[in-house]
Amino acid sequence: SGSLTVGQFAEKLGRPSTDIIKKLMALGVMATKNQDLDKDTIELLASDYGVAVEEEVIIDEASFEDEGLGIDEKTAVVRPPVVTIMGHVDHGKTTLLDSIRHTKVTAGEAGGITQHIGAYQVVHNGKKITFLDTPGHAAFTTMRARGAEITDITVLVVAADDGVMPQTIEAIHHARAAKVPIIVAVNKIDKPNANPDHVMQELSEQGLIPEDWGGDTIFVKISAKKGTGIDDLLEMILLVAEVEEFKANPDKQARGAVIEAELDKGRGPVATLLVQNGSLHIGDPIVVGNTYGRVRAMVNDVGRRVKKAVPSTPVEITGLNNVPQAGDQFVVFEDEKKARQIGEIRAERALITERKETTSKVSLDDLFEK
Ligand code: GTP
Ligand code: MG
Repeated sequence: SGSLTVGQFAEKLGRPSTDIIKKLMALGVMATKNQDLDKDTIELLASDYGVAVEEEVIIDEASFEDEGLGIDEKTAVVRPPVVTIMGHVDHGKTTLLDSIRHTKVTAGEAGGITQHIGAYQVVHNGKKITFLDTPGHAAFTTMRARGAEITDITVLVVAADDGVMPQTIEAIHHARAAKVPIIVAVNKIDKPNANPDHVMQELSEQGLIPEDWGGDTIFVKISAKKGTGIDDLLEMILLVAEVEEFKANPDKQARGAVIEAELDKGRGPVATLLVQNGSLHIGDPIVVGNTYGRVRAMVNDVGRRVKKAVPSTPVEITGLNNVPQAGDQFVVFEDEKKARQIGEIRAERALITERKETTSKVSLDDLFEK
């Protein structure tokens, strides 16, 4: 499906072009008959005329103007890896995240107010690593469902006293579908009945063959509870990051994803964002999912106010009109007017999508082909 001018669109709908132009004006968009309409606008208008568009052609939330993250390889520089921890129930994901945070964040940031913002950064051997502090499965399913790919590396936690379980296998599938490298953390090795070899055997059957056995999967034996092997694990994460060379352009306008968001009584909508490309600054006009605003205040993962957030940094921001959803994409715009315009169109489209069930269904292809 290509683009469509206002005139062509009017013809397909059986309406005069002036009708469409008036509607666009009401949305704050000045258009002429020969102007191309983007997919978002076509869909919005079609829905407005009671012609709903089928689910499969709903424009991906992730693509604002189909640019993705807009990474420019020529000027890209290395950024910290973004790591998600996955694994079966009770295998020690939360304990591991806590253990990493306590050894690396709380100790290093004595005096800083450690608050929960859904993601945090640690420094190991002078290099940063970003951890998503959300359950890995949730991060993958909600984020991926919304088109956001935010994880660079998956740490798969498997309890050495329990072995491979259904959610272990599910996690492997998630990581593979997203083409994300897996590092295995064989946990609970402090337990008397721990059997790391058995875990290695079981995971080999899933195609994750340890380096010691001639494969290419990194296995690290840890005890999240006692803090054993945590440094080795961080080392291995940095090693994988070095090989993969995750990059971004810090000088660009920021793009990224929402980790979590809520309405705060005092501060209004508050969103934790992960900057995936560019740098986010105080005062930036921003569209976040179906809402927009201007970055009023930014707070980092240890509760400190910051003016700027570079790639792979999680920050909590205020200044949005409404509460976005986890997995929503955000994009910074040069001027506030454009951000508002796009934000309003997206908000209206979201409302129309909600009401869609009651309207007649015609596919977008019908609109293009007729
Ligand atoms: P869910 O979030 O429910 O999926 O569990 P989880 O994977 O986050 O596991 P969690 O960290 O809550 O740990 C489950 C239990 O295992 C807790 O009682 C932990 O104290 C214990 N545990 C975690 N890691 C270790 C470890 O290295 N050694 C021992 N002995 N116990 C551990
Ligand atoms: Mg947990």
